[in-house]
Amino acid sequence: MESTTCRRGRILLAEDDLSVLEALSLALRHTGYDVLTARNGREALRMLSPEVDLLISDLWMPQMDGLALLDEARKAVPALQTVIITGNATVPSAVRAMKLGAFDYLTKPFTPPDLLDVVERALEQGQLNRDLTTLTGSGADTQIESLIGRSPAMLEVAQTIRRVAPFKSTVLVEGESGTGKELVVRAIHQLSPRHSQAFIAFNCAAVPSNLVESELFGHERGAFTGADTRTSGYFEAANGGTLFIDEVGELEPSVQTKLLRALETDMVMPVGATREKSVDVRVLAATNTNLAQAVEEKHFRADLFYRLNVVRIELPPLRNRPEDIALLTASLLARLARELHLPEPVVEPGMAAALQRYRWPGNVRELRNVLESILVLRQKAVLTEADLPEYIRNPDAQRQASGLDLDMAEREAIERTLRQHHGDRTAAANTLRISVRTLYRKMARYGLS
Ligand SMILES: Nc1ncnc2c1ncn2[C@@H]1O[C@H](COP(=O)(O)OP(=O)(O)OP(=O)(O)O)[C@@H](O)[C@H]1O
Ligand SMILES: [Mg+2]
Repeated sequence: MESTTCRRGRILLAEDDLSVLEALSLALRHTGYDVLTARNGREALRMLSPEVDLLISDLWMPQMDGLALLDEARKAVPALQTVIITGNATVPSAVRAMKLGAFDYLTKPFTPPDLLDVVERALEQGQLNRDLTTLTGSGADTQIESLIGRSPAMLEVAQTIRRVAPFKSTVLVEGESGTGKELVVRAIHQLSPRHSQAFIAFNCAAVPSNLVESELFGHERGAFTGADTRTSGYFEAANGGTLFIDEVGELEPSVQTKLLRALETDMVMPVGATREKSVDVRVLAATNTNLAQAVEEKHFRADLFYRLNVVRIELPPLRNRPEDIALLTASLLARLARELHLPEPVVEPGMAAALQRYRWPGNVRELRNVLESILVLRQKAVLTEADLPEYIRNPDAQRQASGLDLDMAEREAIERTLRQHHGDRTAAANTLRISVRTLYRKMARYGLS
């Protein structure tokens, strides 16, 4: 791996044990970081400024402990990344630290490489979050959700996003369903010079294949039966901005050829037209099938594959990065609670462990849906393993249980939400984030009126 990782960053160290403080700051300075040291929480708060990228704090300190410091520091500098050092890792304090937004915690004794590894990853994620926040406006209300993850694989993804964003290069994002492909694509657009221009998403699998060509490239009046007016396609709509081509593996061979030409010449030929139109569009593509294999099996043009694959981002399935599950759970719960106007519950270690064991075939989307359902159905201050659906607690039990469990959960969620909104279906559908039509269908299915 190349090592162009930015070494510079300002770190504030808070530790009451002077010999530890000395040793840590030496190791960090030696690596090239700019280090500030504080011997207790109050001193650390006084030294804190927006120029500090990372706060590393001991958990046990006199006057103000690490958790209190972390809480105060985050209020003062929301973009601050934090790491907690603990002598005896008690699960509750580690969990509380993560809940307060700590990036990670280090358990004493640890080696300088352990420390430097955590620091580098924390700064990397902090940088990405800061980039996203500055470009999308202020803090909590960013249009685009930040990409959560602290596994090495996800931090590499974050780094690639930042490197490739400024250029017009095409990017191919590969990953199973629910791994965050669209989130990555939106992040690239947000961090690109085109961020204030159009972002247009086109899903090749969602449109009948005979219409894909005219949807992408537009058509002239009378180009085919039903083409009553001249219509511009997605390429023209995305002019100056970014076109996201989702499920690109579903494209018919004839359209693959046209897409390759558009990418190579920056010109599009509307269906039925005799002259090409020039466009300036950055194309980002995603697929949940293995495109290289599709090329081998001759379903996908090799030249188009290479053209799309200038930069490839592979999103690993959630089960291959279990270290992200706790962080995702905490962040998604916080975000969902805010959106649903519900108090944010505490996750008991038993539940955290069960979430960690489960294989998540639907990846982050499935995790998010499970958390949302528990949040709405249980409405409890403390969530335990028993609050999880049977198929997650007991993945090896017979499969039938899962469908039933989910139906029950869904029925209850719909009933409760309708009650909350005094029977207002539009409002309930909004809260449940489904269409009103879907809500009616589900109500009929569950015999709700
Ligand atoms: N790393 C992540 N951090 C935060 N949220 C995430 C992350 N990855 C995925 N999500 C959330 O999970 C859900 C699914 O993500 P997304 O739509 O990007 O997946 P996808 O790979 O495009 O899936 P599909 O192939 O089914 O279209 C979204 O709600 C997204 O915000
Ligand atoms: Mg998607």
